[in-house]
Amino acid sequence: MKFFIDTADIEEIRGLTATGMLDGVTTNPSLIAKSGRVFKEVIAEICEIVDGPVSAEVIALDAEGMITQGRDLAKIAKNVTVKVPLTWAGLEACSTLSKEGTLVNVTLCFSANQALLAAKAGATFISPFVGRLDDLNLDGMELIEDIRQIYDNYEFKTEILVASIRTANHVKEAALIGADVATLPPQVLRQLINHQLTDKGLEAFMADWKKTGQNL
Ligand code: E4P
Repeated sequence: MKFFIDTADIEEIRGLTATGMLDGVTTNPSLIAKSGRVFKEVIAEICEIVDGPVSAEVIALDAEGMITQGRDLAKIAKNVTVKVPLTWAGLEACSTLSKEGTLVNVTLCFSANQALLAAKAGATFISPFVGRLDDLNLDGMELIEDIRQIYDNYEFKTEILVASIRTANHVKEAALIGADVATLPPQVLRQLINHQLTDKGLEAFMADWKKTGQNL
């Protein structure tokens, strides 16, 4: 499973790159606003740090505008992945940009039929938002299972990029289902390592080592 982080915070990206766990980055207009940075500048900087796909979302709502913006964003770096919303205009833009060889991430997916449309439009990634479905007392992971089944039935190459992840458990469940990618808030990625028995065990080993009086 590939791990992307869902942030436009350069320091977070640098820190997590050093762990060797980062396969890419996703951003959205809300995360760009939170960063307080100029959109294209921050995307260019992320692309210099990370080798993998870096999602940058178009703002236009019509297909022509999305295609123009997508082409423009794709010029920033070869790993820019143009993010388009799951609308008919977004699918049209996805189809055109994908045929030109641009990586495309279709975002704001909340149903299996939407994911089917995105795969048919040639999306590189589909982003189903599990946390926002859970917030409505729906089952986000059930959607991931459905998309996995549909994509496997027809051997679609579109990668399932699980988005709107809120917990470490979301990551485990998505991995068990066989999702291709999870995009994680930085704090959730850091939480994945936590186990109290690891901490206790290490503490005991260190205390016993001290008793040996040896140095290494
Ligand atoms: C992914 O590409 C989205 O930007 C993100 O996962 C949305 O997460 P949220 O529902 O926590 O805003």
